Amino acid sequence: MRTHEQTVQSQFDPRAQAYLTSAVHSAGPDLERAKALAAQAGLSTAQALDIGCGGGHLSFALAPYVARMVALDPSAGMLATVAKAASARALSGIEVRQGNAESLPFADGSFQLVCTRYSAHHWTRLEESVREVGRVLAPGGHALVIDTLGHDDALVDTFIQSIELLRDPSHVRNRSRAEWRSLLQSAELLEIEHAEWPTHLEFASWVERMQTPADRVAVIRSLQEGAPREVREALAIEPDGSFNLRTGLFWFRRPA
Ligand SMILES: C[S@@+](CC[C@H](N)C(=O)[O-])C[C@H]1O[C@@H](n2cnc3c(N)ncnc32)[C@H](O)[C@@H]1O
Repeated sequence: MRTHEQTVQSQFDPRAQAYLTSAVHSAGPDLERAKALAAQAGLSTAQALDIGCGGGHLSFALAPYVARMVALDPSAGMLATVAKAASARALSGIEVRQGNAESLPFADGSFQLVCTRYSAHHWTRLEESVREVGRVLAPGGHALVIDTLGHDDALVDTFIQSIELLRDPSHVRNRSRAEWRSLLQSAELLEIEHAEWPTHLEFASWVERMQTPADRVAVIRSLQEGAPREVREALAIEPDGSFNLRTGLFWFRRPA
């Protein structure tokens, strides 16, 4: 019987290349906004940390705006892919490090920017992880969280979490906007900006990226086909199973 951490590694280690080339991950309005925020914040001398770097797209986007970017992930496969891609892109300020969000292997106040994108829905102890973000941030430092969101409506939310888990056993929970705000505030971080966008998930590539077994794909499709109108409309479910989630961006700051 394996632990959640072992499930994460077995899900992501063999799929690093798929995440490097994924259209959903390699571009998006959230990445553009993240670059603009980093530019406005004047982080050119900053030490930065990207938690759950995956295929490295947030690290690659923000590395030109900071002095050093540490790309952290529990998956050795992801880290090897990011190191190779950073070198191919001549991004010399990126270093890779193995670790997880629940126990960050860094001293207090080590970073002026801590960021994470499309990873926190895999974290098991989110309250602890957000406290860790606050701990490793230097006073005055910025926190940037980007993730797919849960839904305020319980019916829609249960549906989202169910199909996510069927697709990927390393899924823990997409948090709502309200949950994120309260978590970040409880770590004594102050909100500067929040933004949201719809993220379109094309069904075939969504399950292909995670190599979801055919029997689980069939259950997801059957859940979608039987979904009530409220769920179909909220997620804009299409005849081929493609649908929309919302991506939320949270830009917070530790008081100086
Ligand atoms: C979808 S990928 C991240 C995408 C990437 N950040 C980007 O911008 O394209 C999710 C990553 O979260 C990592 N992850 C899962 N659980 C984690 C944890 N507890 N702490 C840190 N990273 C974790 C996985 O190994 C995986 O590489």
